[in-house]
Amino acid sequence: MCGFSADWLALREPVDAAARNRELTTRLCDWRRKQGALSVLDLGSGTGANCRFLAPLLGGDQYWRLVDQDPALLAVIDPIQDRSGLLRRETTTLDLAGSWERLEMPPANLVTASALLDLVSTDWLARLARRCQSWRAAVFIALSYDGTICWEPALAGDDQVRDWINRHQRTDKGFGPALGPDAAPALAARLEERGYSVALRPSPWLLGSEHAPLQHALLTGWVAAVREIAPEPADELAAWAEQRQRLIDQGRARLAVGHWDLFAAFTS
Ligand SMILES: C[S@@+](CC[C@H](N)C(=O)[O-])C[C@H]1O[C@@H](n2cnc3c(N)ncnc32)[C@H](O)[C@@H]1O
Repeated sequence: MCGFSADWLALREPVDAAARNRELTTRLCDWRRKQGALSVLDLGSGTGANCRFLAPLLGGDQYWRLVDQDPALLAVIDPIQDRSGLLRRETTTLDLAGSWERLEMPPANLVTASALLDLVSTDWLARLARRCQSWRAAVFIALSYDGTICWEPALAGDDQVRDWINRHQRTDKGFGPALGPDAAPALAARLEERGYSVALRPSPWLLGSEHAPLQHALLTGWVAAVREIAPEPADELAAWAEQRQRLIDQGRARLAVGHWDLFAAFTS
C-alpha cells in the first residue's frame, strides 16, 4: 500500500495540468467528437484531478466512475463545474491490485488514469491492456514518471540520488514489482500488440522558484525513499539534501521531472 495525501495531490494538480501534453489532449478531444455518450473509468483517481481536467474538455454526455483504494481521497472530490448537467460521477473504493475487471459499471469507452502507471507491474499492465481491448475502449494515461530528474544548478550527487530514486521506483507499491519509468513504454507495447494505435508524448514538470513548495515536497519524499533502500550513504545524502534545500530556499533551484502521456485508440 502506498499513501498519497490530499495536500500532496493538491500541490501537484496545477503543475500536472500545465505539464500535460497538448497534442495528446487534442487527439483525445478529436476522438471524443466521434463518440456518443461516454463511459469513463478513472483508475487511481485520488481526489479527482484527472476528471477535473478532462471532463470540461470532453464535454457532452459523460458518466465517470472514479476508483481509488483510499476513501478519504474520494471523499474530498469537489463538485465539477458542469453547466450542461450531462456529467454524472460515481466513486468506488477498491484496491485495484485485485480483480478490478469485475467492477460493475457500464462498459467503459474510455479508460484513463493520471500519475498512477509507474506504480504498477508487468502483469497488471497486461491485464489492463486485455480489459481495455475487450471493451474496445480508448486509453488515456497521463503523467507517468519517465526516470528523468534534472536539477539546476547541478550538484555532485544528483545522478547518484536519481539512480537510487529510480531503483526505489521499481519496488513493490502494492501491484507487484513496479515498472516505474518503464511503465508507459511497456503499456504502449502491450496495446500495440492488441491492435491499438498508440501515441506516447512527453509531459515534463518544469519547476522554477515559484514552485518551491513542490520542489521541497519532492526533495523530502525522495530523500525518504532513498533512505528506505540505501541506508549506508546517510551522511552524503544528508549533505546533498541540505545543499539542495538551500538552493530551493534561495529561489535558485530549477527542476525538470520527466513524464509520459499516452493515448491509444482503435483506428477502425
Ligand atoms: C499519485 S496519486 C494520483 C491521483 C490522481 N490520479 C491525480 O492525478 O491526482 C496515485 C493514486 O493511486 C491510488 N492508488 C495507489 N495504489 C492503489 C491501489 N492498489 N488501488 C487503488 N488505488 C490506488 C492512490 O490512492 C492515489 O490516489
